[in-house]
Order: sequence, then structure tokens, then C-alpha cells
Amino acid sequence: LKKITTETLKKMKVSGEKISMLTAYDYSMAKLADEGGLEAILVGDSAANVMAGYESTLPITLDHMIYHAQSVVRAVKRALVIVDLPFGTYQSDPIQAYNSAVRIMKESGASAIKIEGGEEIKDSIKSILNSGIPVMGHLGLTPQSINKFGSFKLRAKELDEAEKLISDAKLLEKLGCFSIVLEKIPSDLAEKISRELSIPIIGIGAGNETDGQVLVIHDLLGMNKDFKPKFVRKYLNLHEEITEAVSQYVKDVKSKNFPNKEESF
Ligand code: KIV
Ligand code: NA
Repeated sequence: LKKITTETLKKMKVSGEKISMLTAYDYSMAKLADEGGLEAILVGDSAANVMAGYESTLPITLDHMIYHAQSVVRAVKRALVIVDLPFGTYQSDPIQAYNSAVRIMKESGASAIKIEGGEEIKDSIKSILNSGIPVMGHLGLTPQSINKFGSFKLRAKELDEAEKLISDAKLLEKLGCFSIVLEKIPSDLAEKISRELSIPIIGIGAGNETDGQVLVIHDLLGMNKDFKPKFVRKYLNLHEEITEAVSQYVKDVKSKNFPNKEESF
């Protein structure tokens, strides 16, 4: 099994093969995701929502992210493991950013980090890159800025925001980021950026013309019946499967159907 690297993803862009990425936050799910044949697994700070039930990604800490990343790295044999730098661990200055990224790499064994923002955090990105850590950018709807945006609506609909996004994407490429996630922006803007940049662009809610796609694995598996944004495709209805399995177990316990003779000592 050949390990996927940041170089593999760059080559895939050149050859035109689309890149598939999903999130994972724990050992068991990461093992399933890796065995499914993904190129990249993102230990997203969406763990704050999905694993811990917070309303936003802001509360998750560097220690929490390292714990999730360690669990994922133990499971993954092939995919590239990328870890989000959480809110408040890189924005203040390059030294803070460097220290946070180094902790993730040293303590988890992951292969790259992801960071939200452009021009505003360019010194932080530079200092991480200078230490030899591959950096994935993240532009568009950056959930750590939800309090500034005020909603999870589509970003970069207006010309000024679209122009800033294009210049940020070019800056990230110039700094040396190996890839960029574009979240919830118009498809034609994502297509233009994917065409103009030579590093792979991974989209979520950004149309079909990016170099790859990313989703939260719990969304694709249909684990939360109340969460159904337009950009998610549900490949399973695990909410129903799991609640039905649990309720069958409850019935079997109450009726003394479980455990039977073969299941007992
Ligand atoms: O944390 C996350 O899940 C993400 C992806 C959706 C891009 O950043
Ligand atoms: Na994230």
C-alpha cells in the first residue's frame, strides 16, 4: 500500500484525476474511510460540532485536535492525514502558529495541517511552511469566522469578496501551500480558481469543477437526520439503520430474546 503524499495530490491535479477527501475524528471511522480508498482524510475542527455537539467550531482546543489526530493516524495506512489548526491557535503571530503546528505534527504523526484565511495570516502560514510542514489553505466560508459572517450562507457572491478570494488563493499558492479548500462559494468562481492555480483545489459546496471534493463523513453517511444542506449527498441513512438496531436490541433485552443459549456460557 503506497502512502499518499502532498506530491501525489499535486500529480493528480496534473493528470486530471479527481481527489477525494472526507473528515474523520476517531480510530474506527478513520479505518473505514481509509479502507474505502480515499486519498486524504481531514481531522477537521468540525469535530467540535460532530463529536462534541458544539454549535460552532470555536470551542475545540489544540489538545482536543491532537487527541483526534492521534486516533486517526493510528488507523490510517494509505491516505494523507491533514489536521485543522483550531481557532485561536495561529492568528495572533507566526510564533504561536509555528508552535501549534509543530505540536500537532510531533504529537500526532499527521502529515499536514490546514489553516483558515488568506492575507491576514500570511506571516503565520510562512512560519509554518518554513519549518517544513505542508500547509493546506481554506478560503470562502471559513467556519471559524462565523461570528463575523453572521450566517452559514454562500460566500463571495459579490464582486469585491470574489476578488479578495482570488487574490488570497493566489497568495496561498505563492507562499507554498500544497492545496486549498474552497467552502460554499459559487461554482463558476471555484472553477476559475481551480483553472488559474497549479495546486489542487478541494471543494465543499463549490461545484463540480474543482480538483477534488471534501465532505464531513457523518453527513455522507446520513448520521444526523436533521442536517441536510444542499451540498451534501447522503450515501447511507445510518440514522435510521442505527436507531432501528438499537430499538431492536432494546426489544430483545426486554423480551429476554437476547442473549440466547449460543450467546451464553
Ligand atoms: O472541519 C472541517 O470539516 C472542514 C471541512 C469541511 C473542509 O474544514
Ligand atoms: Na475545519
